[in-house]
Amino acid sequence: MKKKYNIAVLPGDGIGPEIMKQAYKIIQIINQKFPIVLNTQEYDVGGIAIDKFNNALPKDTIEGCKKSHAILFGSVGGNKWNHLPEEKRPEKASLLFLRKKFDLFLNIRPSKLESELFYLSPLRQDISKKGFDIMCIRELTGGIYFGKSEYDKSKEYAFDTENYFKNEIIRVAKKAFQLAQTRKKKIVSIDKANVLKTSILWRKTVDEISINFPEIKLSHMYIDNATMQLIRNPSKFDVILCSNLFGDILSDECAEISGSIGMLPSASINENNFGLYEPAGGSAPEIAGKNIANPIAQILSLSMLIRYSIGNIKIADLIDSSVKEALLKNFKTKDISRNGENYISTEDMGNIICKFLLKRI
Ligand code: IPM
Ligand code: MN
Repeated sequence: MKKKYNIAVLPGDGIGPEIMKQAYKIIQIINQKFPIVLNTQEYDVGGIAIDKFNNALPKDTIEGCKKSHAILFGSVGGNKWNHLPEEKRPEKASLLFLRKKFDLFLNIRPSKLESELFYLSPLRQDISKKGFDIMCIRELTGGIYFGKSEYDKSKEYAFDTENYFKNEIIRVAKKAFQLAQTRKKKIVSIDKANVLKTSILWRKTVDEISINFPEIKLSHMYIDNATMQLIRNPSKFDVILCSNLFGDILSDECAEISGSIGMLPSASINENNFGLYEPAGGSAPEIAGKNIANPIAQILSLSMLIRYSIGNIKIADLIDSSVKEALLKNFKTKDISRNGENYISTEDMGNIICKFLLKRI
């Protein structure tokens, strides 16, 4: 008997549906060829759900997520819904709500550049030729994203608050150390401890956790310096541990230097390994519907789902190496093509990755 897993699929807005279609092709292969079944059920989310139900996260969608082993998320948002009050906008009302609702505190964003693929990176050749393999761990349910905030229009005054309880830092830091054990055993923890109180607590707590992991080399870096060091010498980094806001910023930088935001997958996981898996790049409405978006971030998000929520490392590795083969063999979507020439479509990239996956089975 094949083991069955329920996956809630939430394609969302912009390029979400077209890149999700490529992930579905991979799912079909898995269901046919491997001893597991990913039982997908699709739900509305984001702007499209606002248009249909006046609610970015309908009840059915939440219920569907609750019944699932994991959520495969596309992307949400777009200009069409930007006039709405912030609480109703797709980003806040669906994505941030789901992160909080399911306590998805651990966000993993891997970004890799193979040295043979150095030309994908916008960095200078002598830097990109060294390649890099960075895992950005971002705290996802606390900090300034969820702190007290106000916008008083009459006074033209607004504030947001950054706040952390020690426990919130402990749980994400522990996961970062555990992940570092499986890698090069180096963590750089990011803060602004020369200015911010939350950062002082962050640094102190991470130092305390590190005592239990003597084999891991921990260092601390201010966020401003980190943005600089990442473009000067990304190969020096292994695991980067960040608060919610700093991780948001650094993970985009990591994605860009590895070639394109269209290649960055993301896993958001809770204590029970339930997770939401999404491309980190957003809905990119300006290129939606043109069959030019890069589906790699969505396909790698599926692979992360299989790795972390289902625990099947073998299948996840096969998907990852199929993506790598496509890139090494010079198949590129528009965003990663040199001079925007000789690129293949979203559909074709999906098909080629499927072909390489089938070859491996
Ligand atoms: C991300 C995105 C989100 C965030 C937005 C869409 C709310 O930028 O996942 O990085 O800021 O966390
Ligand atoms: Mn972001």
